[in-house]
Amino acid sequence: MKQTAWVVRLEEATDNTAIENLQAEAFGPGRFARTAFRIRENVPHRPDLSFVGMAGSRIAGSIRLSPILIGKSDALLLGPLTVAPDFKNRGLGKALMQSAIDAAAAAGDKAVLLVGDAPYYSPFGFQQVPFGQITLPGPVDPERLLIALMNDGAMLSGAVHGGEV
Ligand SMILES: CC(C)(COP(=O)(O)OP(=O)(O)OC[C@H]1O[C@@H](n2cnc3c(N)ncnc32)[C@H](O)[C@@H]1OP(=O)(O)O)[C@@H](O)C(=O)NCCC(=O)NCCS
Repeated sequence: MKQTAWVVRLEEATDNTAIENLQAEAFGPGRFARTAFRIRENVPHRPDLSFVGMAGSRIAGSIRLSPILIGKSDALLLGPLTVAPDFKNRGLGKALMQSAIDAAAAAGDKAVLLVGDAPYYSPFGFQQVPFGQITLPGPVDPERLLIALMNDGAMLSGAVHGGEV
């Protein structure tokens, strides 16, 4: 049986450098040109909805949720979700996902958008956005644009941009 030698807790301000390093390792220097990174560029993530996986004193994984607007509606953008290479496939990514989604639902948020692989995210309630319904300020594979609706949230439409914190 695989070991689960980690604990999930809320992100703290002092975690930032370690999280940046994880993201750099996972996505490389081209990450800032990615559409999802560009949306988040000037929008601080929500500290009450962002989590790290701790292996002892080391940050082995991170997930962040950031406020966005889809059209005129408040929503959240999920990501990056990053797990350190030596901690992959032990369930940490899923544990981080569950923590973030549960926290968003408990906070009363109604929609979480992400760009990612549907097979990984669909167990958490994510579905493909109907083609053309939500537009991003950059190229995105429409099959990877996914949304989870919660708290009786309805499907949203319109252009995505960074929201108010
Ligand atoms: C994607 C990522 C977060 C998964 O984290 P993880 O802790 O390794 O994953 P978990 O242990 O929770 O889940 C492992 C399972 O998910 C599957 N999986 C992993 N990445 C997947 C993907 N992109 N698509 C579909 N399934 C995937 C694994 O095959 C494994 O399946 P199994 O349980 O049937 O064996 C991690 O691989 C990572 O950091 N990748 C680089 C950054 C990235 O791509 N982030 C996501 C986009 S923002």
